[in-house]
Amino acid sequence: MTRTVYVNGDYVPEAEAKVSVFDRGFLFADGVYEVTSVLDGKLIDFDGHAKRLERSLGELEIGVPLSREDLLEVHRQLIARNELTDGLIYLQITRGAADRDFIYPAADTPQTVVLFTQAKPGLADSPVARTGLKVISIDDIRWGRRDIKTVQLLYPSMGKMMAKAAGADDAWMVEDGVVTEGTSNNAYIVKNGKIITRHLGTEILHGITRAAVLRFAREAQMEVEERAFSIEEAQDADEAFITSASSFVTPVVEIDGATVGTGKPGFVATRLREIYLDESRKKSV
Ligand code: PDD
Repeated sequence: MTRTVYVNGDYVPEAEAKVSVFDRGFLFADGVYEVTSVLDGKLIDFDGHAKRLERSLGELEIGVPLSREDLLEVHRQLIARNELTDGLIYLQITRGAADRDFIYPAADTPQTVVLFTQAKPGLADSPVARTGLKVISIDDIRWGRRDIKTVQLLYPSMGKMMAKAAGADDAWMVEDGVVTEGTSNNAYIVKNGKIITRHLGTEILHGITRAAVLRFAREAQMEVEERAFSIEEAQDADEAFITSASSFVTPVVEIDGATVGTGKPGFVATRLREIYLDESRKKSV
């Protein structure tokens, strides 16, 4: 089956899905994106992703080209047209196409809107959730507005390659001696039953999964502390894990070659993954 992609109002076969070479996303990484997971043909936390998208666009003074209702309809159309059961929907909005100039084009330049699906059968049942991830630490050399979900993903991509070269699965980024986040996920440790994750700010992406997981943890009477931690503290923790729309809650069992806790996925991460998946499925749209 040929994948159907959404481009600027049209649903087209992927081979016909095209944007201009003058698109500012291509020339300046002048655009934002969202990744929303789909389980059983339904969207997980659509509202959270739509809200963050509007915020990212606002911070960059890019217009909002689609209402939340229309955006939901495009997501649903893509799920239906691609018969998507489990997978991801990638959305990208750029400032549009204009002759190359650092100065933004006129405000009435139409934004470029692209959405496509990625089928991931068994997404919620990934084997790595049962074994855990190995991560390495790398310097966080990204720009200062990581709270905006821009398409500037070269350094995260390099980080994943550094991890791969080191025989690990992913990298945690470190700035001023403390962990900011993973290359494409938020980072957590657990010590004496307490969940510790970096506080929000411009240094990290405000994960939609993070917000839900912390809410569920507090509802389940688990203690949560939002503060920065170092790699040494993480290596010495009882457990570690990551969250993101594509990995949900996934345990981390090794950091820079040091085993975390027992070296197996811990109780808290495993329990949070179950709660997150159960609760999010209930509210999926
Ligand atoms: N990444 N931090 C970074 C740097 C991210 O890129 C992501 C998401 C997260 C987690 O955010 P959320 O829970 O809203 O997915 C944190 C997506 C999944 C990606 O780039 O594929």
